[in-house]
Amino acid sequence: MCGIVGIVGNQNAKEILLTGLEKLEYRGYDSAGIFVSESENEGQLIKAVGRIANLREKVSADVNGTAGIGHTRWATHGVPSETNAHPHTSSNERFVLVHNGVIENYEEIKTDYLAGVNLIGETDTEVAIQLINVLAEKENLSAKEAFKKALTIIKGSYAFAMMESNQPEVIYVAKNKSPLLIGLGDSFNVVCSDAMAMITETKEFVEIMDGELVIVEADKITIENQAGETINRDSYEAKIDVADMDKGTYEHYMLKEVDEQPAVMRRLVQEYTNEKGELVVDEAITSRIQKADRIYIVACGTSWHAGLVGKQLIEKVAEIPVEVHVASEFAYNMPLISKNPFFIFISQSGETADSRQVLVRVNELGYESMTMTNVPGSTLSREANHTMLLHAGPEIAVASTKAYTAQIATLAILAKATGMVKGTAVAKEFNLVKELSLVATGMERLVGEKEHISDLVKANLETTRNAFYIGRGMDYFVSMEAALKLKEISYIQAEGFAAGELKHGTIALIEEGTPVIGIITDEVMGSHTRGNLKEVESRGAATVVVSMEGFEKEGDHIVLPHVHELLTPLVSVVPIQLIAYYASLHRGLDVDKPRNLAKSVTVE
Ligand code: F6R
Repeated sequence: MCGIVGIVGNQNAKEILLTGLEKLEYRGYDSAGIFVSESENEGQLIKAVGRIANLREKVSADVNGTAGIGHTRWATHGVPSETNAHPHTSSNERFVLVHNGVIENYEEIKTDYLAGVNLIGETDTEVAIQLINVLAEKENLSAKEAFKKALTIIKGSYAFAMMESNQPEVIYVAKNKSPLLIGLGDSFNVVCSDAMAMITETKEFVEIMDGELVIVEADKITIENQAGETINRDSYEAKIDVADMDKGTYEHYMLKEVDEQPAVMRRLVQEYTNEKGELVVDEAITSRIQKADRIYIVACGTSWHAGLVGKQLIEKVAEIPVEVHVASEFAYNMPLISKNPFFIFISQSGETADSRQVLVRVNELGYESMTMTNVPGSTLSREANHTMLLHAGPEIAVASTKAYTAQIATLAILAKATGMVKGTAVAKEFNLVKELSLVATGMERLVGEKEHISDLVKANLETTRNAFYIGRGMDYFVSMEAALKLKEISYIQAEGFAAGELKHGTIALIEEGTPVIGIITDEVMGSHTRGNLKEVESRGAATVVVSMEGFEKEGDHIVLPHVHELLTPLVSVVPIQLIAYYASLHRGLDVDKPRNLAKSVTVE
């Protein structure tokens, strides 16, 4: 949430800031701004409400400088407006600041330090920059000293990049719980929330740890810990393929990412297979998990939905009990934890604040954990004991698609590998390499059915205000993901329901033409779901059935290729992703950047 960029020592600063912000737009797109420092005490601050394209239009050709900072905002405190957009300046325009995160004690700071200071906007960030200025003026501190002192007062999550007007070629940087990286260039250096933003400028990055203060100059970076000691840290090469970030011939990232799923399945098999063709997971992980008396999966949104499927896989294949929790609930209402637990955090971005706060607590309690993430080096990956990567490639559309299927496939690989270490009969019989290859082929067929799915959407979901997905077992978990996908990009009020539960109250919502989509991948349970579909049909619902090939077919339907019973969500989810895509597209909405959302949710 919110994206930060910065650069020092490059003639092309303005363009690099704007391009960097465009790549970070997935982190928030309410408003944006840049500050370009042109020389001592000379700089230009430009802000715009809405997308980066609006900002780009406002940045005139006469903005010229070699350093600057920029920000794209997802509003937390204060409406999206130019006043609330970053960068923020101190009243005397000495300091300029961009911020990602939430300052929890901003009201106290106002009362304790900012009496008489005129605050023009409503953001917590403005409070931070005024605090830095007040400390500098009152105590005659340098920019670095004032910034450092402010960090001892500010409580909450933050990634800050600050400039001082009389030091046009220096950026001061610090972070706590929010992501921020330094990129090393050839006689220039950059700052960014995500390596993706600057990957076209450099591939060499340096991590910053919470509590450190970093001074970024054109020819060097200086990292200091809280005691003021200089820290030497090696850089690493970010393995991001620039081509992966490109939409290519696709109109939307979401469609590209849906289409990439067969390739992701094959890549995962390759990444987790040894020279003998066996699926393997780091032994440190499997040997620890097989001893756990209970696994706790913690995640949010789509990743939580993948976790629900993961529970079935781990319990059935590795025979270890699993609980699945929504991170934001678990944090404040922790259940009784078993004697020998193991925690799995599932997070595409590896930055989700709700999940991270549980991980912090889990670490404090001394429990062992693993993060399953798409982003190597992300906060959750660094802070857990182990990591399993999703190898899905950058997921840019806000609605998660290929990360969900990669999460389920990775959970299946973990279940199989752990089951093999434990010697369970199901694991020995589960030929996952073969089954995932069948899944990939099946997905290929489904992504080829776009026209049929688009037509079904036109016939059933074109104008509706609400819709239901129903299913049992695995199909229920996919129904929940289906409803979330539909809601977030088409704004249709949707619910994913256990098919049998509908008649216990919710059926009252069914009216003439209400779309009800049944997912049926198990013939026995499916016969009951069919019964539930008949119940809603007789009350006027427009039903669509998504079912396995070979099953009974009637009315509007989508046929799924046959795959292993534990892997059905990997194929049943593909048409529902496409249903959401076309529902959004046909309503003329912004598929990749739905309103009110951001890809990486770094506030609690
Ligand atoms: C929905 C979606 C979100 C995320 C959730 C967790 O399409 O993408 O529900 O799944 O915000 O994000 P991660 O997986 O990055 O922790």
